[in-house]
Amino acid sequence: MEKGEATMSSWSPEGKQSPGSWEPHLCRILFLLLLFVVSAKGVTPDPNACLVFHSSNGSSISCQPPAKFPHYLPADTIYLATEFFNLTQMPADILQGIPNLQELHLSNNQLEDLSAKFLLPVPQLKVLDLTRNALKRLPPGLFKVSAALHTLVLKENRLDILDASWLRGLKALRHLDLSGNQLRTLPRKLLANFTDLHILDLGNNQLQTLPPDLLRGPLKLEWLHLEGNRLQVLEEGFLAPQPKLRYLFLNNNKLTTLAAGAFRGLQVLDMLDLSNNSLTSVPEGLWASLGKAAGNMKGGPVCSRHVRRRGGSGPQTQLVGAGPAERSAARGSPAPGQDHMHRGLRCL
Ligand SMILES: *[C@@H]1O[C@H](CO)[C@@H](O)[C@H](O)[C@H]1NC(C)=O
Ligand SMILES: *[C@@H]1O[C@H](CO)[C@@H](O)[C@H](O)[C@H]1NC(C)=O
Ligand SMILES: *[C@@H]1O[C@H](CO)[C@@H](O)[C@H](O)[C@H]1NC(C)=O
Ligand SMILES: *[C@@H]1O[C@H](CO)[C@@H](O)[C@H](O)[C@H]1NC(C)=O
Repeated sequence: MEKGEATMSSWSPEGKQSPGSWEPHLCRILFLLLLFVVSAKGVTPDPNACLVFHSSNGSSISCQPPAKFPHYLPADTIYLATEFFNLTQMPADILQGIPNLQELHLSNNQLEDLSAKFLLPVPQLKVLDLTRNALKRLPPGLFKVSAALHTLVLKENRLDILDASWLRGLKALRHLDLSGNQLRTLPRKLLANFTDLHILDLGNNQLQTLPPDLLRGPLKLEWLHLEGNRLQVLEEGFLAPQPKLRYLFLNNNKLTTLAAGAFRGLQVLDMLDLSNNSLTSVPEGLWASLGKAAGNMKGGPVCSRHVRRRGGSGPQTQLVGAGPAERSAARGSPAPGQDHMHRGLRCL
């Protein structure tokens, strides 16, 4: 039995095989040829057609030029991407008849506005990606039926103001990306209803101040991007509602002042980037207020502060690579090695 199988799967140039073994060979070759033809079709799709993938859950459609913008969509569409078309308007009825849609990717168009009725046909939508469009406003009521939406990406548009009413209707929001817009202020209560928010990206806007209540509402924030703004002050208590915060980006701002208790209670902070600000000193006790985190201070031009190593055992804040003077400074006690401390923090 084993011998027979070995003959079947090996080529014998001496032709010592029994004539019967040719048939399986032929079958194998034909099968491989068939496989090759089928997979070649799958690997090089027609660039002029949208990619369509059917699964038991529904159809996924992905289109970008030179394919034509789709005008017919299967009724079971769950995923739709129409990107890089430079459309200024979405066809009004594009989402009609695909009530199961879960993900909609519209990045790299030139959308200037959306109809308030645009999302009404797709109440199961979970992900909406509008990266790199030209949106200045959103129509109030856009998310009226979007209770399932958990990811909203508005990165690199032209928003210069926001109105809390624009987001009304969202109940499951976990990831909100407003980075790369021109926001100068944020309205009060913007996030008041988003208790499940995990990721908030406000990076690369023109924010000078933040509403003090911004983070009252979310309870589970893990990532907060505020880099690339014009923030001058980080108020005491601003971060206090977020004990689960793990990644905090404050680099490329104009921070001159950090309140001594600015980071108090951030027990699981893994990463804090304060590089490229205008901080000349930090208040005594600032690092100590990071609670039980074990620290890891990196100097140099980047100056990301990894404030906690996974599995770090030290109960007190520690600046790795720093001398005892810096460590004691880090704990807020008088620092005899002040210049050491400053060398460590110059990159701030
Ligand atoms: C279908 O949906 C289920 C549940 O959402 C998911 O676990 C599964 O991976 C999906 N199957 C396909 C082929 O996408
Ligand atoms: C969209 O605009 C970009 C930049 O202007 C251009 O390179 C690209 O060819 C345009 N695409 C289409 C489909 O018109
Ligand atoms: C929060 O939700 C409540 C109840 O749905 C609603 O009345 C209120 O307007 C929402 N607040 C904001 C700022 O959207
Ligand atoms: C520092 O931040 C400013 C914005 O405040 C930015 O324009 C500049 O490119 C940043 N410099 C570096 C080296 O990242």
